[in-house]
Amino acid sequence: MNAQELEKTARSLVPEGKGILAADESFGTIGKRFEAVGVESSEESRRDYRELLFTTPRIGDYLAGVILFDETIRQEASDGRLLTEILKEQGVIPGIKVDGGAKEMALSPGEKLTEGLDGLRERLGEYRELGARFAKWRAVITIGDGIPTQNCIDANAFVLARYAAACQEQDIVPIVEPEVLIDGDHSIEQCDEVTERTLRATFARIFEAGVYLKGMLLKPNMVISGKDAPEQAGVEEVARRTVENLSRSVPTAVPGVVFLSGGQSDKQATAHLNAMNKLYPNLPWELSFSYARALQDLPMKTWKGDAGNAEVAQQAFYHRLKMNGAARYGSYSEEMEEAA
Ligand code: 13P
Repeated sequence: MNAQELEKTARSLVPEGKGILAADESFGTIGKRFEAVGVESSEESRRDYRELLFTTPRIGDYLAGVILFDETIRQEASDGRLLTEILKEQGVIPGIKVDGGAKEMALSPGEKLTEGLDGLRERLGEYRELGARFAKWRAVITIGDGIPTQNCIDANAFVLARYAAACQEQDIVPIVEPEVLIDGDHSIEQCDEVTERTLRATFARIFEAGVYLKGMLLKPNMVISGKDAPEQAGVEEVARRTVENLSRSVPTAVPGVVFLSGGQSDKQATAHLNAMNKLYPNLPWELSFSYARALQDLPMKTWKGDAGNAEVAQQAFYHRLKMNGAARYGSYSEEMEEAA
């Protein structure tokens, strides 16, 4: 493990004003997202879409990294260049999703455990050769009747820590993603409590595994009301509860916290990140974004599989990046949406 390199990479993923794009949808997930906009998922359509995102002029203004899926890290653009080369030319660091998906957890109805540790060392070695300098592993915690169990939280925490150690062994920065789902009608207080339990368990295992905290990033959910909760917390409450929760649970040596959007609308995800940076300007970690849906929603709907829409879709993508870039400084406002 080269601690210096890991720390340098981790820091270069969270510079001022920039964040990360998650473009690592598995075949199943991208299939569903494409279907919603009337596009058939094929190797070519996935390539065209991701090429559109990555060739958007000047994305390096607001993006430090992009998380790729296995297919994409090997894929060539229509002009024969590797998609990873295009990213590097844009000043963007390629990363890779390495988990094998959240699967039903045995003897734990309604809960999931993420798979993919077998063969991980070999896969990480190959991904590093293909240009990846960071990786992502997502664990899923569901709030519901009698769940999450501590058993599910602990099992996922253990696996996240094993993954993080495996990454650092090969000088790949692990993004550790324990996601407490927004699905359900639970209150923000319940989300707060489960998020804290999850983060504490995760960092306990990470400590035991000897993971170098300065060479990793955390990708958590925000503390937020369940999607179907009758009462929805406002922007300031989400921001305050999220930061207070992180302050209790996340070691200050971690250089950055890069949130997932988790089903929030694009503008909501921007407003929440903005409020956190505005209300708490002097935190020990950078507070940034690593969104998939909240960055891609409008660009994908605009594109609809038609190359003729590519330029307008790219403009929508760049605009969203710019809004989140402003949220990194706490200087975003609703009016900036109109000004575009
Ligand atoms: P969302 O921003 O759509 O939640 O996706 C982030 C992600 O990478 C999930 O693993």
